[in-house]
Amino acid sequence: METIANEGLIRLKMPTAEKISKGMGVFYNSMGVFYNPAMSLNRDISILLLNSINKNNLQIADPLAATGVRSIRFLKELNKDKIKKIHINDHSQDAIKSIRKNLMLNKIRYKDNPKITISNEDANLFLLKSTGFDYIDIDPFGSPNFLLNNAIIRLARNGILAVTATDTSALCGTFPKACIRKYWAVPKKDAIMHETGLRILVRKIQLIAAQYDKALIPVFSYSKEHYMRVFLKNEKGKNKVDDTLKQHGKFNDAGPMWLGDLWDDQLCNRIFNNAIKNKIFKNNKNLINFLKTIKEESKIKTVGFYDLHDICERNSIKKLQKKEILMNKLKKIGYQASETHFKGEGIRSNMPYLKLANLLKKE
Ligand SMILES: C[S@@+](CC[C@H](N)C(=O)[O-])C[C@H]1O[C@@H](n2cnc3c(N)ncnc32)[C@H](O)[C@@H]1O
Repeated sequence: METIANEGLIRLKMPTAEKISKGMGVFYNSMGVFYNPAMSLNRDISILLLNSINKNNLQIADPLAATGVRSIRFLKELNKDKIKKIHINDHSQDAIKSIRKNLMLNKIRYKDNPKITISNEDANLFLLKSTGFDYIDIDPFGSPNFLLNNAIIRLARNGILAVTATDTSALCGTFPKACIRKYWAVPKKDAIMHETGLRILVRKIQLIAAQYDKALIPVFSYSKEHYMRVFLKNEKGKNKVDDTLKQHGKFNDAGPMWLGDLWDDQLCNRIFNNAIKNKIFKNNKNLINFLKTIKEESKIKTVGFYDLHDICERNSIKKLQKKEILMNKLKKIGYQASETHFKGEGIRSNMPYLKLANLLKKE
């Protein structure tokens, strides 16, 4: 039996999905090709980000393409002139069959199309054989480690590397030894672990890039459900690399990690504005609210956020005031405050911890 899935502007055909891991929402179809509908937001954001940067004519690489959903959506949903060529790759022959089928289903000619190449290679070989890309999307199941080195080698100047990591149990401290081995830093399992885990991932990527005199600066980052995601811009130059390394350090007894900005706030604005104007995305409340929160928190340049429940517990505060009321109070006395996408009970603010705890105690 075949199932048709709709995502964005495209349709995907595949043998009826078999859910193999309930908790993580992992789907394999019966040909063994991976498709996870829960990751549509991940793909939505990639499209919005590429449509929000002022660069066209991109050489795009999708080294771990599976059903081809990401590349096919890029072909259908990216602005005209965005793509010079898209390179779709997977080491699985079944994935390649699925990619071809889905391209045809969406009426995209791939034979003799100068805009598209399809290859059935190991992703590392695929990257190394290439002449380089302006955008590389590493979207594996688990850790992205196995592909980082060659992706960075092949990332063009001012190019963007997009990285997904689904091994959050290492990055957030459930398995600290795994984090030390794989990400060269000590994690901490606590209220802000998703932010510190993401910052540990960023530093690991930056250290690999530093070897090649490439400074990879995060322009958009987030953590959601079972995964983390970061987009980094390649700014070449020894001084930029040195500046990046200076911003590595410990925070909250965890790290070392990236202590610089997780977002380019102007880009966050453009992504949000493009989303609310776009007919595919504007009615997707989940996506719009998510982008709105990130847009607001990106303006506040702090490392870490405050978990209000955690502060109340530590200070024996019985009654917690409403988050909106509290944020307004903070703003009235001259501090910045916003929600954080990392946690519902969290606020991001530049008010010092003791001041905030005292304010909460007074209520
Ligand atoms: C998580 S899926 C990719 C999902 C896809 N990016 C999406 O948006 O739906 C990972 C894919 O990577 C492929 N893969 C894993 N290791 C690979 C390697 N070393 N070289 C090439 N493909 C690989 C698998 O066959 C699988 O299709």
